[in-house]
Order: sequence, then structure tokens, then C-alpha cells
Amino acid sequence: MWASEQLVLCADEQTGLRAVIAIDDTTLGPGLGGVRRAVYASDASAISECRRLAAGMTLKNAVAGLPYGGAKSVILDAGPVPDRDALMRRFGTFVARTGGAYVPGVDMGTTTGDLGAIRSAGVAVSCADEDPSPWTALGVAAAIVAAVEQLDRRDGIDGATVLVQGAGHVGDALARDLAARGARLLIADVDAGRAEALASAVGGGTVADSRALTTPCDVLAPCAIARVVSERTIDGLACRIVAGAANDTLATRADAERLARRGIAYVPDFVANAGGVVQIHASESGHDEARLRADVLAIGARVRGLLEEAARAGETALTIAERHAARILRAARADRQADGAGQAVA
Ligand SMILES: NC(=O)c1ccc[n+]([C@@H]2O[C@H](COP(=O)([O-])OP(=O)(O)OC[C@H]3O[C@@H](n4cnc5c(N)ncnc54)[C@H](O)[C@@H]3O)[C@@H](O)[C@H]2O)c1
Repeated sequence: MWASEQLVLCADEQTGLRAVIAIDDTTLGPGLGGVRRAVYASDASAISECRRLAAGMTLKNAVAGLPYGGAKSVILDAGPVPDRDALMRRFGTFVARTGGAYVPGVDMGTTTGDLGAIRSAGVAVSCADEDPSPWTALGVAAAIVAAVEQLDRRDGIDGATVLVQGAGHVGDALARDLAARGARLLIADVDAGRAEALASAVGGGTVADSRALTTPCDVLAPCAIARVVSERTIDGLACRIVAGAANDTLATRADAERLARRGIAYVPDFVANAGGVVQIHASESGHDEARLRADVLAIGARVRGLLEEAARAGETALTIAERHAARILRAARADRQADGAGQAVA
């Protein structure tokens, strides 16, 4: 049985483009989700990752209360291409064929410039004019602070150790923010130079990427690749909280239970990392910066509420957040049916 509403495979010999677009659910609006460019072991793994990421976007946009559905795309990185702009423009023509059901944005491996090139194919995009990463980082920081405060019954995170895996757009801004709040930072990145530069900027230390998951810390903040928390890695984790920006942090849903059994609190990725989509919505809606900031910082209150409810109910925060998203989607479908619309984005 298909789970995604629509799955598009794109190929263009001239530009070397091979890409996947997964539109997971447009109940709440057009599917908003980034374009990831990465190396994949197989076509099947690219398709699988794209669909999982798209499903995460449905949850993210629903829980954040935004009028968007969930979608995502991946461009398969098969080495240097002769003309990156041409490849992105060609990708834009495939996005155009979705008729507005998919609105692309930046993700790992793509830039605001790439989104500008995609837009030149005549499609609506997000992120072409502003990188949302600083807002994503602000929301993740709010999530981390809320989790530490809630679990330790304290104010702030002064002296807590946070290990940031991935010193990219989000990880960099996150580490700087948390350092300014008095946290001790440890930075890991496959690009050791990048990790060192950030660690020295925030007065923190570096950790070899191979030891990122097993180094003792209060908070592990995955800000790079997907599925770092799995049955294989959970026993080795040496943190008390997992809360970061990386989409699709858990290999399977059961990993949330496994973390709970180890006494490790997990903040669902799609709750913590919604700052970027909140910024995109604010920019579309003309909200001023004060309102945007308040909406992003609301992620902290959301995380606090989730962890409190999880402790009360003896459930994981993931189960509670997913149930919340499902309720929102069910209500929107019921409303639409009552209006006689019957269709999501056409
Ligand atoms: N940018 C946003 O606004 C945003 C929003 C929501 C979620 N996210 C998610 O956050 C994560 C980071 O996004 P970004 O925009 O900062 O990406 P980025 O490409 O700017 O940075 C990623 C960093 O991770 C490093 N990295 C790659 N593989 C790694 C590995 N195996 N171990 C350690 N480091 C590794 C890279 O060298 C790079 O420094 C992604 O999973 C993305 O989907 C980003």
C-alpha cells in the first residue's frame, strides 16, 4: 500500500539530474519540504529516505500549526556536474509538473542559490531569499533548554554539556546560541576543520565523528544525517537527552521506546526543528520579526508540555506528538469533507 500521496522520479541525461520528489500529504496545504542533495547507495535508499523525510514534514507542519502539507525531494549526488544551475533549473521543471503541490526549500546539500535556480523554472519555492537555518537553530535551542529545564527542574542550561553533531548551517548557529547561554559545547563533524573552527569560536571542544554518539554529554544534538539513533547505536549512547535538528533521527519508531527504557529523553525531531518552516510561513504571511521570534520560541513551551505529558502518561513524547498531528489532520479532513471540497491540493 502506498503511503505517499504522490511519488515522482525525475531523470535528465543532459544535466545529469536524477531526483525523487515525495509528496506525503496535502491535507493542510501544499507540501512544503526541502531539497536534499546527497550520495545514496541505491535508488531504493534515495526513494525510501525521500518518503520518510516527506512524512516527517507532514508531522512537522501539523504540530507547528502551519497551513502546509508534507513533502520532500532528494537529488542524487553522483559527483561533480558540469553546470549546477542548469541541473537545478531542470529540477524546477519537474517541480512545476506537481502543479503547486510541492514547494521546495533548502536542506542538507543545497543552498539558497540553488533554490533561486529552481525558482527560475517558474515555480514557487521557499528559502531562495533567506536561509531559514538560524530560525531552525533558535527553535532547536529553545527545545534543548526546555528539555534540560523540565528534566532537571532548573532554570537555563548553564554548565550543561551539549554535543552538536554537524557544524553546518543549523549546528553552527545552535552551538553559538547555547554557548552564549552558558552551555559547554562539544562539536563533531565529518569535516574536522569545520568542527575545529566552530569549537574554537564557541570555546568548546571537538570530538571525532566516530565518537559523537558515545561521548558523555547531557544533550546529544544530531544536526547532520538521518537515523543516527538506532537499535545498533542506542546501547552506546552516553547522553541523557536527544534533541536536535536532523530530520528522521530515529531509525524506527521503536527506538523512542528503547531510548525511554535507557532513561534517555527524546524530543521528536519534527517538533524541535520546526523553526525554519515557521520562518518560511512568517515570510509568506508578512509577520514581523517579533511575532516570528515568539512563534519560534513557542517550540520550547511545546517541548515542555510534551515531556510533561509523556512523564504523566508513561508514553514517549514521540507517541504524544504523533497523536497530536493525527488529530489535527483528522479534523482538517473532516472539515474539508463537511465543506464538500473532498480533495487536497489539486
Ligand atoms: N537548515 C534548516 O533550516 C533545517 C531545518 C530543519 C531540519 N534541518 C535538518 O538539520 C540537519 C542539518 O541541516 P543543515 O542545513 O545544517 O545542513 P548543512 O549541510 O549546512 O550541514 C550539515 C553538516 O553536517 C556535516 N555532516 C555530514 N555528514 C555527517 C556525519 N555523518 N557526521 C557528522 N557530521 C556530518 C557536514 O559536514 C555539515 O557540516 C539536516 O538533517 C536537515 O535536514 C535543517
